[in-house]
Amino acid sequence: MRGLKGKSVLITGGSRGIGQATAQRFLEEGSQVFICGLEREEVEQTVEKLAKLGKIQGIACDVSVEDQVLDLVAQAEHALGGIDILIDNAGIAWEEPFLEITAEHWDKIIAVNLRGMFLVAREVARRMVARGKGGAIVLMSSKNGLAGEVKYAHYNASKGAVVMLMKTMALELGPHNIRVNALCPGYILTPLAESIDSPEFIAAYVNNIPLGRLGRPAEVAAAYAFLASDDASFMHGTELLLDGGQLSQ
Ligand SMILES: NC(=O)c1ccc[n+]([C@@H]2O[C@H](COP(=O)([O-])OP(=O)(O)OC[C@H]3O[C@@H](n4cnc5c(N)ncnc54)[C@H](O)[C@@H]3O)[C@@H](O)[C@H]2O)c1
Repeated sequence: MRGLKGKSVLITGGSRGIGQATAQRFLEEGSQVFICGLEREEVEQTVEKLAKLGKIQGIACDVSVEDQVLDLVAQAEHALGGIDILIDNAGIAWEEPFLEITAEHWDKIIAVNLRGMFLVAREVARRMVARGKGGAIVLMSSKNGLAGEVKYAHYNASKGAVVMLMKTMALELGPHNIRVNALCPGYILTPLAESIDSPEFIAAYVNNIPLGRLGRPAEVAAAYAFLASDDASFMHGTELLLDGGQLSQ
């Protein structure tokens, strides 16, 4: 993809699943990468696994804690010599019927998926504006940010809000030549998905997907790379759905 070689990329939630596949993709494109994840050991294992592909570093960070986010972005900027691209990817999910969702569970999902997304994006954008070289930011929403799904009211609310966060950021950051977009994947086979659903559930679920299969982390990584690349230079303030056709029904 055009315009990714030599670029500096911060990826949150880069220690496994979609985020790890995305770190791999940007390294293959010739970018340099800084990742964070919740668990230090997992971050270190990912850095070690991908180091043969290019320059990658990372630290543990809880994106819902403001002080940790400020430290993350400062460390990433120092290591990368300026951030060109933010992949704001970290997120959590679990199933819970609407009538049983506790205030604590609601707050936890919103804290990571929405507050964390905002804290990282705001700090990176502040530094991009100060640097004056523009940039690209991609926020992770979901197909569940565009349509409801039973047992995910807290998650769906967080991902729907990410779309509106993205659109407002696009209005305010466009004049600084910072492009902002969101990704809306359908069901992707990752450790998160496998922690929620049984193989039997997944086998039945694919009947809802016209392409007849779940998505792969590398396919989401390719969409992240596209939105961050010069090939998407006029895409701004938009959400890109990649769901195997599920929402077409
Ligand atoms: N897997 C899917 O089907 C799917 C579909 C649509 C959207 N998404 C979204 O994609 C993103 C990645 O999902 P995944 O399936 O790869 O999940 P995953 O559980 O495999 O990986 C999640 C990553 O986020 C990190 N993380 C979790 N909580 C964090 C916190 N508080 N602070 C910092 N990092 C934290 C983890 O360390 C890990 O690196 C999430 O935002 C998720 O909502 C996933």
